[in-house]
Amino acid sequence: MAKVRERWGSRLGIILAVAGSAVGLGNFLRFPSQAAQNGGGAFMIPYFVALILIGIPLMWAEWTAGRFGGGYGHSSAPGIFHSMARKFRIVKYIGVAGIYGPLTIYMFYVYIESWCLAFAYYSLIGNLNFANPEAYVSFLQWYQGVNEAGFFAGSMPAVVFFLITLLINLSVTYHGIRGGIERLCNIALPALFILAVILAIRVLTLDQPVNGTEGEAVRTASDGLGFLWNPDLSSLKSPTVWLAAAGQVFFTLSVGMGVILTYSSYLRKRDDISLSGLTAASTNEFAEVVLGGSIVIPAAFVFFGPAFLADASNLGSFDLGFLAMPQIFAGVPGGAFWGFLWFFILFLAGITSSVSLAQPTVAFFEDEFNMTRQKAVKIFGVAVFVLCQPAMWFLHRGVLDELDFWGGTVIIVIGAAFEIILLAWVFGMDRAWEELHRGSRLRVPRIFKFVIKYISPSLLVAMLIWWFVTDWWDVITMVNVPDENVPYVLGIRLVLIGIILTLCVLVWKAWRGRPDGEPELEGDEA
Ligand code: ALA
Repeated sequence: MAKVRERWGSRLGIILAVAGSAVGLGNFLRFPSQAAQNGGGAFMIPYFVALILIGIPLMWAEWTAGRFGGGYGHSSAPGIFHSMARKFRIVKYIGVAGIYGPLTIYMFYVYIESWCLAFAYYSLIGNLNFANPEAYVSFLQWYQGVNEAGFFAGSMPAVVFFLITLLINLSVTYHGIRGGIERLCNIALPALFILAVILAIRVLTLDQPVNGTEGEAVRTASDGLGFLWNPDLSSLKSPTVWLAAAGQVFFTLSVGMGVILTYSSYLRKRDDISLSGLTAASTNEFAEVVLGGSIVIPAAFVFFGPAFLADASNLGSFDLGFLAMPQIFAGVPGGAFWGFLWFFILFLAGITSSVSLAQPTVAFFEDEFNMTRQKAVKIFGVAVFVLCQPAMWFLHRGVLDELDFWGGTVIIVIGAAFEIILLAWVFGMDRAWEELHRGSRLRVPRIFKFVIKYISPSLLVAMLIWWFVTDWWDVITMVNVPDENVPYVLGIRLVLIGIILTLCVLVWKAWRGRPDGEPELEGDEA
């Protein structure tokens, strides 16, 4: 008997699931670090340009492509791309990017998520000494195993919390779209928002004497907001800042990585996508620039000062929130509770995203190898257990940041460029526009037809070429990688190449002997 396709239970369910996928560690940890590392106000201009001219159009493009491909029984990028352009066999292989991107992010994301769970627990039992920043930082380093790391970093508690977090993730995925992901997001996302608003209000009402010394000038949270919101045109000339801003927009919206494609493939043919997509993206941006921007950046500004933020480039991609926030908890009554709240928010944000990062791979096994979900999750579980190890054990060797750079920036910008070109130029813009509006509750302004067809692809391609010309060679030759880290960075790059090749072989095997044409699913299934 043919398998019954999974479906979302309600319109609110998919909006919360997509928003849950989007709102994640990217909003609360990665965004503040990226903004600080790329000049604060200077980062925000490319960020908003990328959001409006590429991020939002791409989000509509992904919802459109995903729902279309779902109509042919595909829920991962290789199959969805194939259903959109059957004449071009190569598109299935390009679709590998839509599994590879989320998988690469998963390889470090779940580990960071497990730190959040652990630190929520440690806050609650009073193990974190917020009053003494040095003690706190050395606890963090002990937990990560980086302070006395020899060949390996890591610590026993970190391993235990990682295993717990991975098992929770896998059990949500095991219960499927409606019984697992939708149910989780229906509870976790509203809870996350309520908690985050409470925390943001607390942070914005802080003022802290510099270095705790009475009588000195007081740095307030609103000065910290100025760091982010005073526009600075100086770094607009840097392709790296543009790539970082675009990468952050895609990372945070979960677009360009195949995740939205997969989620929207579980819609029915006449379900709304234009309004739902915009609602989910707006929810994410609220969480990113309003909550993410007004929690961590002002806190870091108040406690560490502008010089520290301006020089935050020496921090890892996700460190700022872990370092800055605890400083707040020392100074306020009930600090342990606020600490718990912060890390618990991070954990909720993380898990609603990581389950979405798992789904493209699981769906690929289910649809293209005709596996049951349970079997697909077991295979996925074993594979990611192994693949997550390098980020944990070689954290001190820059492996996590390397994974984030390739998975969280480069591949999603490349994936985004392919995806939008495929939809607008190969599938056809008129067809795509019609598909976007089938069953829609919002008429997208016509200008976006022009933007999706010309502006977004041109900007993406221009950005990539600019970056290739100016920065590519230095990245490949690891000019900025410390000598002692070179073998590890090289090693993880080889692992990443191995994953791409394995996925290509799997795509080849899945389609071997299959006819190119395939029937559209009928009736309710479609
Ligand atoms: N969109 C997810 C995040 O921001 C991956 O964390």
